[in-house]
Amino acid sequence: MNYRINTSFFLTALMFVFSFQLIAQSGRTPIPAKNGMVVSSHYLGSQAGKDILAKGGNAIDAAVATAFALAVTLPSAGNLGGGGFLVYHGADGEQTTFNFREKAPKAATQTMFLDDNGKIKDNSNHSGPLSVGVPGTVAGLWDAHQKMGKLPWKDLVQPAIDLAEKGFPSSWAMQGFQKRMMKAKESVYDGTKKAFLKNGNQLYQPGELWKQPDLAATLKRIQKDGRDGFYKGKTAKLITKFMQKHNGLITKDDLASYQPTEQKPIHGTYKGYDVYGMPPPSSGGVAIVEMLNILEGFNLQKLGHNSALYLHILTEVMRAAFADRAEHIGDPLFNPEMPVEALISKEYADKIRPTIDWFKATESDSAKFNSVRFKEESEETTHFSVVDKAGNAVSLTYTLEYSYGSRITVEGAGFLLNNEMGDFNPIPGVTTTRGLIGTPPNLVAPEKRMLSSMSPTIVAKDGKPVLIIGSPGGRTIINTTLQVILNVIDHEMNVAQAIEAPRIHHQWLPDITSFEKLGISPDTKRMYEMMGHKIRYRSTQGRAMGISIDHKEGVIYGAADSRSFDGRAVGY
Ligand code: GLY
Repeated sequence: MNYRINTSFFLTALMFVFSFQLIAQSGRTPIPAKNGMVVSSHYLGSQAGKDILAKGGNAIDAAVATAFALAVTLPSAGNLGGGGFLVYHGADGEQTTFNFREKAPKAATQTMFLDDNGKIKDNSNHSGPLSVGVPGTVAGLWDAHQKMGKLPWKDLVQPAIDLAEKGFPSSWAMQGFQKRMMKAKESVYDGTKKAFLKNGNQLYQPGELWKQPDLAATLKRIQKDGRDGFYKGKTAKLITKFMQKHNGLITKDDLASYQPTEQKPIHGTYKGYDVYGMPPPSSGGVAIVEMLNILEGFNLQKLGHNSALYLHILTEVMRAAFADRAEHIGDPLFNPEMPVEALISKEYADKIRPTIDWFKATESDSAKFNSVRFKEESEETTHFSVVDKAGNAVSLTYTLEYSYGSRITVEGAGFLLNNEMGDFNPIPGVTTTRGLIGTPPNLVAPEKRMLSSMSPTIVAKDGKPVLIIGSPGGRTIINTTLQVILNVIDHEMNVAQAIEAPRIHHQWLPDITSFEKLGISPDTKRMYEMMGHKIRYRSTQGRAMGISIDHKEGVIYGAADSRSFDGRAVGY
């Protein structure tokens, strides 16, 4: 027998075991820490943020480092070529948000995805160069850091450069993502094969070291020149070269003129807590506050967590909020009349509450918008939560839209472009059969931002953050975040239990509720159906990443959703 050990095999095996130890989930027991915490969908992203906190960085610094690290280690959703939202609540009570959602290029038109018969051409809103919005992530992180960061910018980009240059072990989850990406019906571009497959044609095995030299070079340009390292110079040239070659719309001017915006958060109150969420173009903040306002009139604890009656009331509230979302919400710069204040008012909730029948489902009234068939939405967005030693908190969700976005990797730059244009309503005046709404607030226009469901949220008590939460999951994001908040406040769960508990989703249309497959009993399901609801099962809903803070004991608790394979809460 040959006892010689192959060194590279041994090292790979060691990394494999090591990565497994690191990805251990917190399950129903949150991870406690005294000084700071980062919870994200990849353990190396959480680690990068935690290291910055431990070096004296604040929550914004750690968020920047985590976002860049996830752009390397979680390419299905972490990104340079996408966009997102950041909600901040300082220990001093200051709150703000950064909107770095992608924009439509200046040459975009309301009918850009349609053929001569008014039908969507070749799935062009979701696939190919027209599906790409002008990316916002780098500008958003730069802006937040310029205004509120503490450590030098270069220190925050360095962990991502190290991960891209020196490599990190691939995982089972990543292999699964890559298999699905290569099998998807959307075209996979050469640059994508080169960036994500070994030698351009093989999957990386779990534990195998994966290096991304082109991405490392792009990150170095961003490290040196800040936002200009992305929106001008070589990176911008590589993006526009691709766009010209493939008839895309994004120009040098689109990139150079992209600006994120700082906006006041949506603010609501719920049973003695303050709730801060993202304003439009996200629908998340408005919908969550509207639903909480209606639910404030119910004794949810008495109904019992996930009892049939509780799920019925939740469903009716979701139905109301999602109907309002479809009718009213879009980019505020293009919809000056949007009734945001009315939708989040207690008076409006007082009008909706009595319309809910205690024992009977209402029907979703689609008459004024035509009918809609349900299409499963992409779950590939990612959320992370951060708390620093001073007690400042960041809740950040960003996305490429689909898993691996448009599947277009900018050749020579090593990063993926989003397909976020698919979040616009593609056919003016017509509600599509693909589950999208055709209402005016979210039609395409030059430089407009597409409607989002991303819901980074911070709940505070007595002026201090107590729960930092969010999730991926398309429209389910809103309902996942709502249910975690209710689980903590009404059902007195710790943050890990609140995240692990089974969830449901209803989005007004189609008029059907999805239940997670495991965890809601057949008896409950039958009683729920007897009230007139229709249900279907899905395997899982969202991957929430949360932190709670016990100010009395001085302990920060982190919890990574066990629905995420590589997620991890890392504190110190
Ligand atoms: N692309 C997912 C969202 O913005 O809601």
